[in-house]
Amino acid sequence: MKTSDYIQNLFAEEDDVLKDVITSLKENGLPEISVPSEAGKFLYLLVKIAGAKNILEVGALGGYSGIWMARGLPEDGRLTSLELESEHAKVAETNMKKAGLDHKVTYRVGDAVESFTDLVADGETYDFFFIDADKENYRAYIESALLCTEPGALIVADNVLWGGKVVDEGNDEENTRFLREFNKFAAKDPRLESILVPIGDGVLVSRVK
Ligand SMILES: C[S@@+](CC[C@H](N)C(=O)[O-])C[C@H]1O[C@@H](n2cnc3c(N)ncnc32)[C@H](O)[C@@H]1O
Repeated sequence: MKTSDYIQNLFAEEDDVLKDVITSLKENGLPEISVPSEAGKFLYLLVKIAGAKNILEVGALGGYSGIWMARGLPEDGRLTSLELESEHAKVAETNMKKAGLDHKVTYRVGDAVESFTDLVADGETYDFFFIDADKENYRAYIESALLCTEPGALIVADNVLWGGKVVDEGNDEENTRFLREFNKFAAKDPRLESILVPIGDGVLVSRVK
């Protein structure tokens, strides 16, 4: 048995709501690139442990990671999710309703670089960020997060191992380079304390100092 299957089976079993999200991706022709269930459970626990109340997600897809995180929020908690594709946001919204969590969640359609900049300009603040969209803008997203948060907040990002390519010295693909640069930033920036957790496709966890 693969390690990931063992972890999924024992610690991160999906209920029918989460299984239906995956089915909805297939039915609506969306890419099946949600976080795996063990990463979803990890996000849920991080939200709970941090006592987060106001999450900003970048990259909603069908709402799978959003449901895990929203389940970790207290009743008065909020999740704002930025998504480029209106079709994806529509599917995510429907799934969030089916999960009974839509009262906590707002979807904002458009390029997340612009949406994030607008939210910062409006003075919005967040205590938990989950970055899971276009790799070329990961650095822009973490820089924006640092502009609208406070010490103790968590910034989490998915795919930071990029299928192992970031540690393959022979791999020089564009997204690999973006992710290496992003990881270096998170590891070295004096405003952050960070660790890369090798769960799923690699999850970066940074705490704002
Ligand atoms: C990997 S999927 C997100 C998966 C989701 N977090 C989950 O685990 O259920 C990436 C999503 O980011 C969106 N995306 C890509 N570029 C974007 C951008 N510039 N602004 C906002 N969303 C973007 C894609 O449309 C896609 O839905």
